[in-house]
Amino acid sequence: MQQFEHIDVDLLKKYSRPGPRYTSYPTAPVFSEEFGPSEYRKEIERTNASPDAPPLSLYFHIPFCDTLCYFCGCNMMITRDRDKIAGYLDYIIREMEMIRPLIRDGRKVTQIAWGGGTPTYLTPDEIRKLSDATKRLFEFDENMEAGVEFDPRGMTREHVEALKDAGFTRLSMGVQDFNPKVQEAVNRFQSEEETRRVIDWGRECGFTSINLDLIYGLPFQTLESFEETLERVIDIDPDRFAVFNYAHVPWMKKHMSLIHPEDLPSPEEKLKIHVRTIERLNEAGYLFIGMDHFAKPDNELAVAQKNKTLYRNFQGYTTNAGADLYGFGITSIGQFERMYTQNVKTLKEYYPRIDANELATHVGYLLSDDDLLRRDVIMTLMCDFELDKRAIEQKYNIAFEEYFAGYREMLLELEEDGCVKISDDKIEVPGMGQLVIRNIAMAFDAYLSEQLKKPLFSKTV
Ligand SMILES: C[S@@+](CC[C@H](N)C(=O)[O-])C[C@H]1O[C@@H](n2cnc3c(N)ncnc32)[C@H](O)[C@@H]1O
Ligand code: SF4
Repeated sequence: MQQFEHIDVDLLKKYSRPGPRYTSYPTAPVFSEEFGPSEYRKEIERTNASPDAPPLSLYFHIPFCDTLCYFCGCNMMITRDRDKIAGYLDYIIREMEMIRPLIRDGRKVTQIAWGGGTPTYLTPDEIRKLSDATKRLFEFDENMEAGVEFDPRGMTREHVEALKDAGFTRLSMGVQDFNPKVQEAVNRFQSEEETRRVIDWGRECGFTSINLDLIYGLPFQTLESFEETLERVIDIDPDRFAVFNYAHVPWMKKHMSLIHPEDLPSPEEKLKIHVRTIERLNEAGYLFIGMDHFAKPDNELAVAQKNKTLYRNFQGYTTNAGADLYGFGITSIGQFERMYTQNVKTLKEYYPRIDANELATHVGYLLSDDDLLRRDVIMTLMCDFELDKRAIEQKYNIAFEEYFAGYREMLLELEEDGCVKISDDKIEVPGMGQLVIRNIAMAFDAYLSEQLKKPLFSKTV
């Protein structure tokens, strides 16, 4: 299977510019402290007043890890203090107990995600404790999808069994790179053997969807070394891959300065790795879904893309549109149709809020009608690679060309390069355009010109 006839490296180079990843629209820099706990409470009350409120999606952030990976850009903290972790677990359960009475009875949970940090750094008993509390407080839909991020290092079979008992259906595992020199440079020592062992346990326990995370652009990676890692992970035969572009931002994450810039692959080498990854995963039967995601054609992600029900949120591409997302724990994000909210970022801020029976909101945002419309356009392009302009006109009662005056000029260069096709009725994103989809989406972002004046975003390719 070859989705792309020819991947034009020069074109990718040309469009490698800073830009948002559009896991939300508006993007996080727009969220404001003016939206605090009382605004969040009001939104919870408003959305729960309606008898046909959508189902629920729950996200739990478990920030702890055992050792520091120098490349890490996640919201995590390193600790070996098990009491600290146990204490956090009590607080996240208390946060859930505080919010649950505000939610109308009968709203079922259709999706659960545990992210981190490393949720599997919890002990099997702690995994059971959090899942039992969730089951006690919420009603699960029988087709609920539940995914958990995990790190095979230090995991036991009991962990996997506890996750299965907790109702998880999807496992997402960090691998990054199997090359020993790369692993040493980033302080992440993870053997292929232990990775395979945990996946075998997962399969034996009946997990049907397994994702592996890789990162390209790490120190000492070369095209050849990464090709070797690719062969080894393809042989493991997961259902999905997420292959992330390493974002080196030591000014935002201090520990990244433990990675020496001179050890990083050149932008040219990085692009070659990126292109080869797409080609090789295609050859191995994985479809490019968008940005960093790949999935086997029968995986739910690929099926959703085909059926045009794919959706994008804070967890990247997902299949569950139309649920209200409640986040628990530090830095967690919540999303309702017209609202984004994010919790405080430190334990020092989080614990007193819960002790005071107050929501842990740090920032948030209420979407205007214009935001809703633009989000629809941007997310449809990001997920479906095409947009029916007439459908948007009908849905929002606008004249597309008038409303988005100037978008054609912004897309002109991309159009001339064959990355986007614009007709009276449609915007289509063929082949190469799918690899620079963020650049196309950017033409519909009303906040971007101001935001680009600051170094807020990673490169689009
Ligand atoms: C929360 S971690 C996954 C679970 C677990 N903590 C682990 O590392 O195995 C999420 C993923 O983000 C990716 N990631 C972390 N830092 C990154 C960075 N600076 N640039 C790109 N991807 C990154 C890694 O692929 C990692 O697996
Ligand atoms: S990559 Fe995963 S294991 Fe490593 S520090 Fe980040 S969250 Fe923790």
